[in-house]
Amino acid sequence: MVKDNFGRPVTGLRISVTDECNLNCFYCHHEGCPASSHEMTADEIGKIIRVATEFGIRKIKLTGGEPLLRKDIVGVVAAAARPSIDEVSMTTNGILLAGVAHELAEAGLTRVNISLDTLDPKTFHRITGNGSISNVFAGIDAAIDAGLKPVKLNMVLLADLNEHEVKTMMTYASKRGIILQIIELLDTNGGVFPAYHRGLDDIEQGLRSQAVAVRTRRSMQARKKYILQRGEVEVVRPMHNSKFCMHCTRLRLTPDGYLKPCLMRNDNLVDLLSPISTGDLETARKAFAEAIARREPYFKGVPREICVHARV
Ligand code: 5AD
Repeated sequence: MVKDNFGRPVTGLRISVTDECNLNCFYCHHEGCPASSHEMTADEIGKIIRVATEFGIRKIKLTGGEPLLRKDIVGVVAAAARPSIDEVSMTTNGILLAGVAHELAEAGLTRVNISLDTLDPKTFHRITGNGSISNVFAGIDAAIDAGLKPVKLNMVLLADLNEHEVKTMMTYASKRGIILQIIELLDTNGGVFPAYHRGLDDIEQGLRSQAVAVRTRRSMQARKKYILQRGEVEVVRPMHNSKFCMHCTRLRLTPDGYLKPCLMRNDNLVDLLSPISTGDLETARKAFAEAIARREPYFKGVPREICVHARV
């Protein structure tokens, strides 16, 4: 297994398969990607993953934009589900999931994260700008029915907007046997952070007091997982969290095929698609090695102002 200069193995590749999205969440970090000029084909994605496996990558996460907007998304999943890949997962807003969940599972999708910050249609509309929450509910049910496991809900905690919904979201999730993931708002696109950032200290304290067990998922950026009498809650706290970065095991890939060593930066991308599209595997391997060498923790322990706004 290849390790970076900070001793961190790289086991996951988070592939943004499109910039396009059918929602317009006001806080979205757009996976930290600059606007893409084009999208990799399913075939190119498959070839990239084959090279990735040589470096120890075993987990693939497909993101967007909204991945389900790609007409060939089932083909993308099939291309990603190679024999040496342990897990192909997807982060989706769920709007289009009901119609395709079973096909995705058959193509090799293992599990799914569905972004859902609220159960209230009005709040949903305030956050997402458009789309119908009932489609997301249908998508969640379809994902469960298709056997995607675990289904996780991504709830970004937002001051005033949804902070009072943690309990109802926990009940909604536990009734369905799915996992709630409470996520701290990350400051990547200027303006919204000061108004909407809501710390998670008190929520974690409450979870700790109720939990029958608490686990730390080292391979997942040291996330805390609270096992409750009914249900499971994970807490994701990236802001100024050096542990989050020290336990980061992922590389990212932009829709137009650049390897991206860190969500928070765009000044160190490495072109991978050019060598892949000409079949130059040796140069593609060098691109991977270079991207791994460029990995460094963003939050190094000393809190610092975030001055990089990822969408440039
Ligand atoms: N802070 C934290 N998480 C974010 N996401 C998007 N933007 C942000 C942000 N600013 C996460 C949400 C969504 C996933 C695609 O990215 O959890 O589910």
